[in-house]
Amino acid sequence: MKILFTCSEVQPLVKTGGLADVAASLPKALAQLGHDVRILLPAYPQAVAHCSIHARHEFEGPAGAGALLETRLPGSDITVWLLDAVWAFQRSGNPYLDASGMPWADNPYRFAFLSRVAVEVARNRMALDWQPEVVHCNDWQTALVPALLTLEDERPATLFTIHNLAYQGVFSADVFQHLGLPEAFWHHQSLEFFEQVSFMKGGLVYADRITTVSPSYALEITGPSFGCGLDGLLRQRSHDLVGIINGVDDDEWNPAHDPHIAQRFTAQSFESKALNSRALRLELGLPERPDLPLVALIGRLVEQKGIDLILDCLEAMLELPLQLVILGSGHAAFEQALEQAAARYPERMAIRMGYDEGLAHRIEAGANLFLMPSRFEPCGLNQMYSQKYGTLPLVHAVGGLRDTVVDADDRALLSGDATGFSFHEATGACLLETLKRALGIWQYPDMWARMALKGMLKDFSWEASARQYLAQYELAIRARKSS
Ligand code: ADP
Ligand code: GLC
Repeated sequence: MKILFTCSEVQPLVKTGGLADVAASLPKALAQLGHDVRILLPAYPQAVAHCSIHARHEFEGPAGAGALLETRLPGSDITVWLLDAVWAFQRSGNPYLDASGMPWADNPYRFAFLSRVAVEVARNRMALDWQPEVVHCNDWQTALVPALLTLEDERPATLFTIHNLAYQGVFSADVFQHLGLPEAFWHHQSLEFFEQVSFMKGGLVYADRITTVSPSYALEITGPSFGCGLDGLLRQRSHDLVGIINGVDDDEWNPAHDPHIAQRFTAQSFESKALNSRALRLELGLPERPDLPLVALIGRLVEQKGIDLILDCLEAMLELPLQLVILGSGHAAFEQALEQAAARYPERMAIRMGYDEGLAHRIEAGANLFLMPSRFEPCGLNQMYSQKYGTLPLVHAVGGLRDTVVDADDRALLSGDATGFSFHEATGACLLETLKRALGIWQYPDMWARMALKGMLKDFSWEASARQYLAQYELAIRARKSS
């Protein structure tokens, strides 16, 4: 099958979160199953710096003017087209935010441009001599593609994946006018959303099939608590909506061959993990206390990730027999509060602000317990990385966290299925309670190791999920044909 995969970030070219991991590893898994996948992505300077360009296709047409820089996804044969245009993508810094952390003012125009170019590629009008059967779009940045493709006489099938419904690409009516979209799109059953334009609705209304990144999140977003105002529409489309859990890219995340970590290990040499804990304490300046579990958190320090829950119980947490390690960046207020706590408890807590891929790996390898108290979590990747690295996740039971972590209740402990800890109420008190439960099990190293090994031996590979995507592509093609 020929699949055009389009999105706004791909690891290792450019990454702000899990979308980038998925956008690299799903195409690789599809290619391994024998399919022809090609990726369309903006030519941000950091992405261009990462690869060698094999060809440059200049264009000028209905989508505007620019060039497609042709390259390969590092470590694969997958063709990547980087969309280059000075006004849209040639600027340094974060793909979505300016230096003060505010969204770039021209984001709707930048990503509408990406979407229009995707349509041209999808219709084989870019002199690339390639016609996809399916276009797979991801999140609001590429959500106009399914809408725009319905304006074509002939078009490939479309599949839209929601990685996070909370970011919808909603802009003023004024922006809608400037985008030059057909007036017919200004309708509540189209892109209009409470008198604004919603890019996300382009995917939700017009894609032949819709997926999201876990079965639980697929259900949650059809209700008002997690539906972000779009639950009614998602209920209408519930027959076309499924949840497919993300996998883990074994080339990137496997303690047996991870180049970033002090000591490689497998389930058979689980005891070597302790050397990574020792190295991590040394790197972060924490006293060597192997009797205390190293508890970690890596991620965007934003409300979604439940950072406020941690702050609610942080003092009490740091009085418990543990050491806490945090790597992340995000809201200034969260950063400051965490930094202040680390300064008050230097023996107990270490924090690193910023983005550090290598340290993220060393934390997964060295930590014993990994916190993900997210208020909502479409899938979440670190709870899966943790299990592969013998680090027990402690999670709020929502979305993908609920689908991938088996809580150590009495039954699961007895059956040997437990791989972590989960709690059901998003409060600091529940998080603390669950942390104490985990510390209780830490007292029994055999029981702890049994849980860690169960997680390490679980199958988080992409193959099964890639096959589910293929089934959805088939359904999208069938829906397209019968429409
Ligand atoms: P989200 O996409 O909502 O941020 P995910 O759990 O899906 O959450 O993915 C986050 C990804 O970004 C993971 O690969 C995680 O390791 C990585 N990550 C997040 N923050 C940092 C950071 N400060 N340094 C290194 N990696 C990070
Ligand atoms: C989003 C979600 C996260 C998910 C990732 C990749 O950023 O917040 O839960 O794992 O996309 O699908």
